[in-house]
Amino acid sequence: MIEAASAEGTALAWEVAAGLNARPRVLPCRLLYDSVGSALFEAITLLPEYGLARADRKLLRQHAAAIGAALPRPSVVVELGAGSARKTRPVLAAIPGGFAYTAVDISPEAVRICRRALAETPGMAAWRGVVAEFLPGLEQAAAERRPGQRLTVFFLGGTIGNLSRDAAAGLLRGIHARLAPGDALLLGTDLEQNPARLLPAYDDAAGVTAAFNRNLLVRLRRELGAQMDPAGFAHEARWNAAERRMEMHLRAVGEQAIAIPEAGFACRLADGESIWTEASYKYTAQETRHLGATAGFEVVAQWRGEEWPAAETLFARN
Ligand SMILES: C[S@@+](CC[C@H](N)C(=O)[O-])C[C@H]1O[C@@H](n2cnc3c(N)ncnc32)[C@H](O)[C@@H]1O
Repeated sequence: MIEAASAEGTALAWEVAAGLNARPRVLPCRLLYDSVGSALFEAITLLPEYGLARADRKLLRQHAAAIGAALPRPSVVVELGAGSARKTRPVLAAIPGGFAYTAVDISPEAVRICRRALAETPGMAAWRGVVAEFLPGLEQAAAERRPGQRLTVFFLGGTIGNLSRDAAAGLLRGIHARLAPGDALLLGTDLEQNPARLLPAYDDAAGVTAAFNRNLLVRLRRELGAQMDPAGFAHEARWNAAERRMEMHLRAVGEQAIAIPEAGFACRLADGESIWTEASYKYTAQETRHLGATAGFEVVAQWRGEEWPAAETLFARN
């Protein structure tokens, strides 16, 4: 088994090689979102099993007027990991006096879908798309604010759950540091519940989530010239009770070889060995409030779903 790398590999090739060399073997979940991955994620949000998307849509629609009225004004909404932002639209439309909007997303396809989904949203004075990671994207939006404008960061859906608890706390501190007094943060979290309901949400009957997961390998083949057989890996969703998180894995079916020539890396996975591709940490409503408070935010309000436990928490940056 060769598990070494040459000096020539690109940063991504090196990052992927380092992840595959680690134990457990891991790939960064942001790589799930190429153009196919973003389209597949949109399809996931329509699946009957994926209750979080339904819960979020319902919560945001139901409380749009209250959320809109509670945001600081004049408002520039910066949505991190915006995806299509379809479910954000009712809240945006309810902001009194209108708003400017910036979508920040690592996926150019997500930004394109977002532009279409938010076209002609009532009150939208300007739309901007920034293809970037969360904090650099926010920094760019913050640098361009005009005097007197208030920034509200939207970070919705289960995206915060994709970060480890430490990384989530660090990201909220980073958001706080880039905001000014009078700004705000609207944070979505998927709340803890019976894992028996969570498992199908990450392993649906139509196999869309499986395709979303396996597409990561197809992407590595296309973009990095990685050598492997994506069909040799099975999608697996697991509940990790100790860490209170869902995990997605790609499990080798039979012995599987992977090579990343650009990083001089190769490895073999034994039958049943897996690559961890995504975490979705679950929170309690109280933990969510605490997470924002320890980053320096003040809790303004929290709205919670009943049928599928999810929360939208509004924080002020004082
Ligand atoms: C789970 S999806 C959520 C999309 C949308 N907010 C929703 O709730 O339906 C995560 C989104 O964040 C984007 N994303 C993932 N990692 C990112 C990163 N490090 N920086 C910026 N965007 C990222 C993905 O491209 C994707 O659109």
